[in-house]
Amino acid sequence: MASKLTCSCLVLLVLVCMGCGICCYGEGMVPAVYVFGDSLADVGNNNHLDLSIIKADFPHNGVDYPGRKATGRFGNGKNSADFLAEKLGLPTSPPYLSISSNSNASAFVDGVNFASGGAGVLDSTNSDQCIALNKQIDYYSTVYGALVQQLGSDQAQSHLAKSIFVIVIGSNDMLHYVKSSSQNKLKSPQQQFVDSLVSSLDGQLKRIYNLGARKFAFIGTGPIGCCPSMRKQNKTEGCNQEANDMSVLYNKGVTSLLQNMATDFGDMSYSFFDTSLALLEYIQQPATYGFAEVKAACCGLGDLNAKIACIPISTYCANRSDHIFWDFYHPTETTAGMLSSTAFDESAPYVYPMNIRQLAAL
Ligand SMILES: *[C@@H]1O[C@H](CO)[C@@H](O)[C@H](O)[C@H]1NC(C)=O
Ligand SMILES: *[C@@H]1O[C@H](CO)[C@@H](O)[C@H](O)[C@H]1NC(C)=O
Ligand SMILES: *[C@@H]1O[C@H](CO)[C@@H](O)[C@H](O)[C@H]1NC(C)=O
Repeated sequence: MASKLTCSCLVLLVLVCMGCGICCYGEGMVPAVYVFGDSLADVGNNNHLDLSIIKADFPHNGVDYPGRKATGRFGNGKNSADFLAEKLGLPTSPPYLSISSNSNASAFVDGVNFASGGAGVLDSTNSDQCIALNKQIDYYSTVYGALVQQLGSDQAQSHLAKSIFVIVIGSNDMLHYVKSSSQNKLKSPQQQFVDSLVSSLDGQLKRIYNLGARKFAFIGTGPIGCCPSMRKQNKTEGCNQEANDMSVLYNKGVTSLLQNMATDFGDMSYSFFDTSLALLEYIQQPATYGFAEVKAACCGLGDLNAKIACIPISTYCANRSDHIFWDFYHPTETTAGMLSSTAFDESAPYVYPMNIRQLAAL
């Protein structure tokens, strides 16, 4: 009798759980976060790519992460994927490649991160070293299929429509272009190259939309010409203007792509964060934002600590919270946290047509 009672209680509990929309992070503003992108949002996918040299699963990466753990994040601590999840009241979505292939769809319901260091919009960007965006979407398509199978089509659609899809991509494609030969640049001028990126992205975002995504949080590219590896190539240690201009063009292109999508698909919403604008302010008025070092990387070796990556033999700075850059390409945890806060809570011209908090609340 008693065990029968326990049993029906359990059944009831399970039913209640299913009814409340896929248990059980009660405090979350949305059911889940699905993340696509590059090293700015990778939380450990590249650790699983045996042949890739684009990795961060060794010190001094993670020196400020809980337990001083080098998790594969490209930075000293948490990155934007962590901060955005935290603000949404959710645990960080796990790396797709860390989810065992024999686990079922319940592993996907709380969100998945597909981001991979080195990834670009184009398959040719760091090919074989990372999971390119197209491949990330292939993986997501598998996740989508599993969710539909487990929850049923209607439940899966409603779950995904409420979830947030974070996209952080484009920097690597442009960095490759800027470093390519002048012959290549003649063949494909800046605007034309950016147009080709935006046109690829158009198909990619629509594919994600067709797989149930309705709320897009697009993190635009930063002033990539100001990263220490680019500055190091300039005698005056100034930012590479070509790279920064390109990032602005790309962000413009992505903005109009998102606008067009929202017009075409009435049930699609987005938030676009202009990382270039926000981060350039930190770089131009460091003291206002609490930074003391805007040029040199914290971890590395050589000029601006940008000649050698952050590897175990590199040195790293004592105070990570007054540096904008952790290594020759990536922001410190402090920078990532400040940018995420702006994307989450501020307004135009930094983030529009709504911030991520507003997107979540729709
Ligand atoms: C799915 O996985 C969960 C947790 O690992 C387990 O409790 C459940 O029984 C599994 N369901 C199926 C249908 O395999
Ligand atoms: C080098 O830096 C200066 C500012 O110090 C800037 O005006 C110039 O455009 C930069 N050179 C390149 C190639 O970007
Ligand atoms: C590190 O830098 C931050 C930001 O500039 C500052 O508030 C803090 O006092 C510094 N910490 C130390 C130990 O110098």
